[in-house]
Amino acid sequence: MNNNKPLLVANLKANCTWEQVQAWLDLVGPAARNFKGTIIFCPSYPFLATASQKIKSENLPIILGAQDVSEFEQGAYTGEVAASQISSLVNYSIIGHSERRENFNEDEIALAKKVQNATAAKIIPVFCVQGADTEIPEGVQIVAYEPIFAIGTGNAETPENVRKMVEIIKAKGDYEVLYGGSVSAENIQSFIDQGKTDGVLVGATNSVDPQKFKSILSAVK
Ligand code: PGA
Repeated sequence: MNNNKPLLVANLKANCTWEQVQAWLDLVGPAARNFKGTIIFCPSYPFLATASQKIKSENLPIILGAQDVSEFEQGAYTGEVAASQISSLVNYSIIGHSERRENFNEDEIALAKKVQNATAAKIIPVFCVQGADTEIPEGVQIVAYEPIFAIGTGNAETPENVRKMVEIIKAKGDYEVLYGGSVSAENIQSFIDQGKTDGVLVGATNSVDPQKFKSILSAVK
């Protein structure tokens, strides 16, 4: 990994049409040229190929990521997307988001397989943990601390508690640690400075609207 810091992951979740994804890139792409960190943009699967073409043809400083990969490799798994199918399109994938753990019953065994499949396909997992007790599978290099109470609520974790979690996670291994949960233009710098994170994960609250995401970029000193 050789990314400029901070890392900003934009997780659009199941939001936006292709037209909106295009508009997002049209607004954030040029603004990203003045940003010192790294932007990892995670739209839904159907838009990865066209977004990748647009990023390449316009030479935008944006890296693509997926929101998930299958625990299975290619085969008879209707509806799934295997890591090796998207490895030419994305460099990263979010894995273990609390919404997937909760709504799709993803357990530690499935998540370890996802991490294994992603890394085998040379996709870097951004592995979400919900607290100090969440197991981190082997092969993970980037961990995102995402307390459930802070997701989509406007009630972000305090930078002080984020710093404590960063210390706990870094004591477990040589990880880069991000924070996610109601990150905004107003609080991002506090998670980088006081929180001592390597970056943030911005969910639907402030990433779906490209104007809001752009103000987050501008807020980073
Ligand atoms: P939020 O989501 O930024 O909308 O709170 C964070 C996340 O789900 O990763």
